[in-house]
Amino acid sequence: MDLLLPPTAATGTAAREQVAVVGAGSIGTAWIVVFAGAGLRVRVYEANDAVRATTMGTVRAKLAELATAGLLDDDPAAILARVCVCDTLEDALTGVHYVQESVIEDLDVKVELFREMDRLTGRDVVLASSTSTIVASSFAADLPGRDRCLVVHPGNPPYFLRVAEIVPADFTSAEAIAAARDLLVEVDIAPVVLDHEVEGFVFNRLQGALLREAYCLVRDGVISVADLDVLVRDGLGRRWSVIGPFTTSELNTRGGLRRHGEVLGPVYARLGLERGQENPWTAETIERVATEVQAQLPHREWEDNVRERDRAMTNLAVLLRTFDNPLARRREAVRERAVVADET
Ligand SMILES: NC(=O)c1ccc[n+]([C@@H]2O[C@H](COP(=O)([O-])OP(=O)(O)OC[C@H]3O[C@@H](n4cnc5c(N)ncnc54)[C@H](O)[C@@H]3O)[C@@H](O)[C@H]2O)c1
Repeated sequence: MDLLLPPTAATGTAAREQVAVVGAGSIGTAWIVVFAGAGLRVRVYEANDAVRATTMGTVRAKLAELATAGLLDDDPAAILARVCVCDTLEDALTGVHYVQESVIEDLDVKVELFREMDRLTGRDVVLASSTSTIVASSFAADLPGRDRCLVVHPGNPPYFLRVAEIVPADFTSAEAIAAARDLLVEVDIAPVVLDHEVEGFVFNRLQGALLREAYCLVRDGVISVADLDVLVRDGLGRRWSVIGPFTTSELNTRGGLRRHGEVLGPVYARLGLERGQENPWTAETIERVATEVQAQLPHREWEDNVRERDRAMTNLAVLLRTFDNPLARRREAVRERAVVADET
């Protein structure tokens, strides 16, 4: 795949600098902000006339919010000037090297749209879907240009959660994966490339594992809905914003992740069985995870790495002292009302 394409006749702009977003709902609009905010020209197609007519206004309002918060590197007007909303799909796909499809989560709609996009674009154009759940092999397998089709699943919204999963089908070319990865890096989104397709990808599988247990705990009367949210927000979530769950296991237990697996592996296996899941952590997997986690840590000694974790948590705590979370405030108000009610 030749990524160094000459300027296109249609726009006079180097195609390398120009991408398309198809579908301008919540995710499409957010991708427009990410791409244009990073200096790329963005051509947009949205099928709904009313939505298409308001897309520029929606993007303008979002840019204004981010600019007020000091989160843009460029003038909002300059960013907006890089966005072009087109009346047809064909026009939006002209002169671009990458397409981020962000239409509704409907297999038939994606199948039809990818057929059209495959027909309307050159074979060097990467066709990526924002889909949360549908694998590329179910919407692109029959296309002549299926080798440039893949999933690029963002966190919502991608201008805040700056990570996306790249999920290739077994027919996706290495060049298309590399091009998607390079583009994400260019726009300051961390690319995570899955080895192969799996339903729900990884983001939603992890989210699903937590939600499955959360629903059971609420159903069984163990915890209130509000308290479960607080436990994740102020506990697990706060720690996970600094280190992931594997690094947590390595640094929370003296003896590291191997010891953590020894002590807590059987407990978690029992909890899984309680929910009808038999997936004990094998010694081989624990060994692999421990080796890979340790290879990523900055120091050889466990104590030194724990010190780094504590430094990171301290820095976060300092930032959070000035963090005014309107949703947490509402929770505090509910708690205060409950206390007053108890006392009366
Ligand atoms: N909302 C999330 O949390 C989230 C997170 C990650 C990924 N996604 C995925 O992103 C995609 C979009 O989700 P959303 O939440 O933005 O949906 P949305 O309903 O807000 O927006 C979808 C837009 O696509 C338009 N559309 C429908 N068919 C079209 C077509 N053929 N051509 C052009 N436009 C078309 C609709 O008019 C609508 O404006 C979905 O595949 C979804 O699974 C969503």
